[in-house]
Amino acid sequence: MEEIDKERLPHHIAIIMDGNGRWAKKKSLNRISGHIKGVNAVREVVEACRELGIKVLTLYAFSIENWRRPADEVNALMGLLKEYLQKECAEMVRNNIRLNAIGRIEDLPRDVQTTLQETMEKTKRCDGMILNLALSYGGRSEILHAVQGILSDLQKGTIKWEEMTVQRFHEYLWTHGIPDPDLLIRTSGELRISNFLLWQIAYAELYVTDTLWPDFDREELLKAIVDYQSRERRFGLTSEQLNGREE
Ligand code: FPP
Repeated sequence: MEEIDKERLPHHIAIIMDGNGRWAKKKSLNRISGHIKGVNAVREVVEACRELGIKVLTLYAFSIENWRRPADEVNALMGLLKEYLQKECAEMVRNNIRLNAIGRIEDLPRDVQTTLQETMEKTKRCDGMILNLALSYGGRSEILHAVQGILSDLQKGTIKWEEMTVQRFHEYLWTHGIPDPDLLIRTSGELRISNFLLWQIAYAELYVTDTLWPDFDREELLKAIVDYQSRERRFGLTSEQLNGREE
């Protein structure tokens, strides 16, 4: 495989981890077995990102819409999340990984919230990488939440409408303090954004693979990064401007 250029790594990678159910179905297993295998893929990808020197990894672990799935599947996912955090906390500290969560965290079961808070507390001084979990997350809800925060601050007089900029708006999002993703990966072939990081992906490079999430590994991650590095990111400019040939 082509070598990756360590000087041009994406700073922030975001992943829509899709296909656990299809993976299980293909193997005549139940959906929960797909999620269990999906957790192994999470472990491998977190480790690979840390080793490569990726600074932020955001994983879409549970959407607001996912609450509508059968109760046993929702319970299993919550259990897997809690177990993952409990098992991986020491490893995160060892690897200097700070855990962060975005979404309607208050929707999660109490015990999961407690484990989440404990893990964030124990890893709060880690500065090698941020593992950002999107939990009970929805992009539209996030934007609405930001607008509510802005309206409240306007009413209190702590901000002025004229001062509102794209940068200041970002401070009201759940991802405040985290730079926007450079690369958005979606597994299992669907060409959709599914309400993920709607504001933040304005200039992200999109990479979709047919590989189902439980089969996504280090090799697949490297392929996505090589593909990302083959793109020219213009941010609305022309190629000539980017290459310094035109004012
Ligand atoms: C999508 O597959 C996956 C999810 C809804 C959950 C993702 C969760 C995990 C990988 C495990 C828990 C996470 C962590 C961070 C420990 P799908 O069920 O929608 O698959 P399908 O589209 O094939 O049915």
